[in-house]
Amino acid sequence: MASNSSPEKITIRQPDDWHVHLRDGFVLDTVVPMTARVFRRAIVMPNLSPPITSVDNAISYRQRILASLPSGLSFTPLMTVYLQDNLSREVLLRGFSEGVFTAAKLYPVNATTNSAQGVSDIRKIDSLLETMENIGMPLLIHGEVIDSSVDIFDREAVFIDRHLQPLLNRYPNLRVVLEHITTEHAVQFVESNLSTIAATITPHHLHINRNAMFDGGFRSDFYCLPVAKRERHRLALRRAATSGKPCFFLGTDSAPHLRAFKESSCGCAGIFNSPYALESYAEVFDQEGALDRLEAFASEFGPEFYGLPLNSRFLTLVRTPQIVPSKFKLDKGLDSCDYLVPFHAGESLRWSLDLNLASNLSI
Ligand code: DOR
Ligand code: ZN
Repeated sequence: MASNSSPEKITIRQPDDWHVHLRDGFVLDTVVPMTARVFRRAIVMPNLSPPITSVDNAISYRQRILASLPSGLSFTPLMTVYLQDNLSREVLLRGFSEGVFTAAKLYPVNATTNSAQGVSDIRKIDSLLETMENIGMPLLIHGEVIDSSVDIFDREAVFIDRHLQPLLNRYPNLRVVLEHITTEHAVQFVESNLSTIAATITPHHLHINRNAMFDGGFRSDFYCLPVAKRERHRLALRRAATSGKPCFFLGTDSAPHLRAFKESSCGCAGIFNSPYALESYAEVFDQEGALDRLEAFASEFGPEFYGLPLNSRFLTLVRTPQIVPSKFKLDKGLDSCDYLVPFHAGESLRWSLDLNLASNLSI
C-alpha cells in the first residue's frame, strides 16, 4: 500500500523543457514529437551546422520544427541565437524585439558539439552582453573552460571562478542561466547569487555519476558534456533539484546523435533522454521523497525566470512501471545505423504518463 507521501498518481501543470537539442533534417520528424508529447514549450539550442546566427535562419528553423509536429499537439519552440565574437548587436536587437529569439547561447569555442564557431573570449562579446542586459534578454551558458591544462572534471568549476563570477560583476542585471550544471560548486554558486542567475538540471546528471561511463567497458551512451562527475556531485544536484528553490529548473539537454556517431573512435557527446525525460525526473523526485516539488521544478520555476505565463493544461503521471525501448528507429533513416538509443534503454521506470489523461493535452 502506498502511503500519502508516495502517491499512486500525480497531476501537474504541463511542463516545459528549458534546454533541448532538436537537430535538423529528417531527425526532426522523430524527436520533435517526443518532446512535444509532454512539453508545451522548449528552449531550442542553436548549435546546428551551420549554427543559428541570424533572425531569418531562426525563423526558417522554427518552421521546420513546427512542420515536424504531429497534428493535434500544441508546442512552441522558443528559439535561441548562437553567440559569436563578431555577431552584430542588430541581430540580437531585431531577433529579441520581434519575438524570434527568447535567449542567446554562449558556447566557448570547442566546448562541445558544433561549438567551433562559438565565442573565443568572453571579453570579445562585452558589447553584446551589455545590449542583452539592457533589453532583458537572457544569456544561456555552456559553462566549461576549454584549456588542456584543466582536467575535464574541473572545467565547470574553473569556468565559474574564472569567467562567470567576473561576468556577473560586470553585468549585475543580466539574466543568466548556467545550463546543465554538474557540480556541487555550481549548485552553491547559483543558490548564493542574486535572482538574476538560475540553472537547469538534466535527468541524466541526477541519475548517473562518472562511473556509468566506464561500467565494464567504455559506455559512450553515458558520455555527455559537461561529463557526469563524482557521486557527491550527483547527490548535490539531487538536493538542488528537489529543494524547491526557484533558481533550479528542468532542462533535459536531450542531445540525440545517430548510432554511428556515438559508437565511434571519437564518439559524440550527448544523451538522448527526451522520450522518457519526465518519467525519469519523476523517478528521482520519488526516490528523494519530493514528488510534491516536481511540479514547481518542471512547470513553474522556468516560466517564472523567463517571465512567461504558466501553461494552462495539466497532465498526470501514474505509478505504472514501463520498460524503456532499447532503441528508436528514425522515421526517415537511410541505413541500419540511423537509430537513437534513449537514456534508460532497456530499464524499467516506475512512472508512466497517463495516456487517457494525456489526451487532455491535445487541442
Ligand atoms: O552532451 C552534450 N551534447 N552537451 C552539449 O553541450 C551539446 C550536446 C549536443 O549538441 O550534442
Ligand atoms: Zn545542450
